[in-house]
Parts: sequence; C-alpha cells; structure tokens
Amino acid sequence: MQEKRQRTVRESQAERSEVIFPGDANGLGNLFGGRLMQFIDLVGAVAAYRHARATTVVTASMDSLDFVAPVHVGEVLILKASVNRAFRTSMEVGVKAMVEDPKTGNLRHVSSAYLTYVAVDDSGHPVEVDCLVPETEHQKRRFDDALKRREARSGEVERKKRLRKSLENAWYI
Ligand SMILES: CC(C)(COP(=O)(O)OP(=O)(O)OC[C@H]1O[C@@H](n2cnc3c(N)ncnc32)[C@H](O)[C@@H]1OP(=O)(O)O)[C@@H](O)C(=O)NCCC(=O)NCCS
Repeated sequence: MQEKRQRTVRESQAERSEVIFPGDANGLGNLFGGRLMQFIDLVGAVAAYRHARATTVVTASMDSLDFVAPVHVGEVLILKASVNRAFRTSMEVGVKAMVEDPKTGNLRHVSSAYLTYVAVDDSGHPVEVDCLVPETEHQKRRFDDALKRREARSGEVERKKRLRKSLENAWYI
C-alpha cells in the first residue's frame, strides 16, 4: 500500500438534515427508532468514506444507542458525524442527532452513537486507511477515548465471532 496520508477531522466531518414526515413515524407521531438508526448509519458512513477514500466502507458495528428524547413529525433533525479515530482498516465515527428549534435555532440532543466502519476494496476485503490527526482539545479527547472503547469492544468482537461459529450448524439458522 502507498504511504499513509495524515487527514484532519475537519476533512471528513459530515452533516445531514431531515424533515420528519408521517411515513417515518409510529402511532404516537414520533420518529421510528429504526429510521433514526438508518439516518445515523448513513451520515456516519459519509464521514468514514470521506476519511478512507476507499472503494467503499461497510458498517462493522454500532455501539449501544440511546434514544434520549422523541423526535416528532414536522421537526427538523440534524445529524453530525466525525471520525474519532482511524485504526488499521477501521474507523470509529461518532454521530450526534439533534432537533433544531425553528424559532430559536437551538439544538435539542435526541440521540448519539459510536459506529465502526471498515474500508474495503472491490472484493470486500479490508484495506488500510489514512491516519487521523486530531487538532482541537475536543478532538484529542475523542481520539483518546476511541482507543479505550476499541479495547473494550475487541473482547466483545471475539466473543461474537466464537458465538457465530458455534451457531453455524444450529437448526434455526
Ligand atoms: C466488517 C468486515 C469487512 C470485517 O471483516 P473481517 O474478516 O472480520 O476482517 P478483519 O478481521 O481483518 O478486521 C478488519 C477490521 O474490522 C474490525 N472489525 C471487525 N469486526 C468488527 C466489529 N464487529 N466491530 C468493530 N470492528 C470490527 C477489526 O477490528 C479490524 O480493524 P483494524 O483493521 O482497524 O484493526 C466483515 O465482517 C464484513 O464485511 N461484514 C459485513 C458488513 C456489512 O455488510 N455491513 C452492513 C452493510 S454496510
């Protein structure tokens, strides 16, 4: 592979705005959790893709997702994504979802998540990604925290791989 480039966080940050329509809502008129997960995954993928500049990126995992407050039909959802840290072929991306108050422009936090994307080539094989250089204090804190989360996650990834192997021949698969 070519020598790794150094990319800043700003180079790959992504933002998406969505007006919530009735088709996105449950019976209470609130945005479906699954639809919100889709929005989160998509904006996170754009940030990862911009950092990796690979053929494509795939979502390897999404850490736990808390729905802090409901999003109502007609509200404007703002999603912001940043690459927190790049590893060998994977990247941790943080996504924050907020609702914008139309009168004041104030943002209300509704959800956030950490996702791991892997850069892949045309055959779907992982490929190395460039280094991420945090510049601000916030970015440096997120960079350090991402390594701790990866360490906590790696035991879980191995556990799930073993579980999948043991389930390969299970009758209900
Ligand atoms: C993600 C995927 C490419 C990883 O393939 P793999 O054979 O496990 O590859 P490796 O073991 O070499 O791991 C590659 C990287 O992925 C990371 N990874 C793999 N599984 C992971 C998981 N569940 N969570 C977080 N990171 C994971 C590894 O830590 C490694 O990171 P690093 O290179 O930065 O150290 C493969 O599992 C895959 O294609 N999954 C399906 C993805 C998909 O379809 N997503 C939904 C649609 S986009």
